[in-house]
Amino acid sequence: MDVIVLLAVVSALSRCSALWCYESQFTCAEPCKDPGSWAVLFPKCGGLQQSPINIVTSKVHVNTALHPLDFKGHESKINIIVENLGYSIQFVLPQSVRLTGGALPGNYRALHFHLHWGADGGPGSEHTIDGERFPMELHMLHIKEPYGSVAEAEHDMAGIALLSFLFEESTNDHPHLNSLIAAMGHIHDNGSSAEIRDFKLSDIIPPAKDLHSYYRYVGSMTTPGCEQAVAWTVFQQTLPVSSKQLVAISQQFRFWNGKPMTNIFRPVQPLGGRIVYWSRARAVLPNMMSACLCVLCQFWVSAWCTWGDTGFV
Ligand SMILES: *[C@@H]1O[C@H](CO)[C@@H](O)[C@H](O)[C@H]1NC(C)=O
Ligand SMILES: [Zn+2]
Repeated sequence: MDVIVLLAVVSALSRCSALWCYESQFTCAEPCKDPGSWAVLFPKCGGLQQSPINIVTSKVHVNTALHPLDFKGHESKINIIVENLGYSIQFVLPQSVRLTGGALPGNYRALHFHLHWGADGGPGSEHTIDGERFPMELHMLHIKEPYGSVAEAEHDMAGIALLSFLFEESTNDHPHLNSLIAAMGHIHDNGSSAEIRDFKLSDIIPPAKDLHSYYRYVGSMTTPGCEQAVAWTVFQQTLPVSSKQLVAISQQFRFWNGKPMTNIFRPVQPLGGRIVYWSRARAVLPNMMSACLCVLCQFWVSAWCTWGDTGFV
């Protein structure tokens, strides 16, 4: 008798909690584990080094070893498969896309990139800066060589390198996002996919030399299993996206349970004892140098004029 009751409870529980979801996806008819209870199904989500975080700019530590990264394969034309995973839209990248430098401990190979967004063009980034949530965030995921998968890389503290670009709303469309948005129009439902041909990553991601200013911290994947094996790089430079494009992206898709795929971001997690490092804006030094040059230059010009006037030249 007791056993039967227990079995009934266990089976009801497992039916109710079989899948994780975002808050926006939760329905009473089809309960799922929302971010606050991911750790029930995926214990690592309750860890002490989780992502995303709020970056408090007055508390970051400058680290001069954080040189610019080095991208490979960003300028080549590639074919990308874009797929609806039921909780996110993923753009699968070829093996030729690589990442080194930026004080990362090895060579990394890109696997995919994906986006986090809100609803109807509202706030939707995962990382926040001084409490500000941006409208969209792009994550580009790389795994360290020689690992072959995320599952292999997650046993290494820096097995995964995630690059994060925050978007800021612009008046004009981002010209190169429209080809992505058009392809996304074919994959409304979970499990569907489409191909984007002749795409260049450099059309949406700025050259590494222009991305000298970034934040670095140690964290996790922001979806279950929340593996704590990620070296995060959050760039200070934002990418533009128009409100029309934002709305087009946030209204196109459905979650695996049929609800509109909106507000796909995990709430920020406690920083705990972690330190966020900052590469510091490289522009400081050239600005100072040009200021000095300018002073020197003015000195020479005025000296030249004075000498000229006094007949020495
Ligand atoms: C989403 O689609 C994939 C591929 O078709 C399938 O394996 C998966 O079970 C689906 N997810 C859900 C939650 O239905
Ligand atoms: Zn992500």
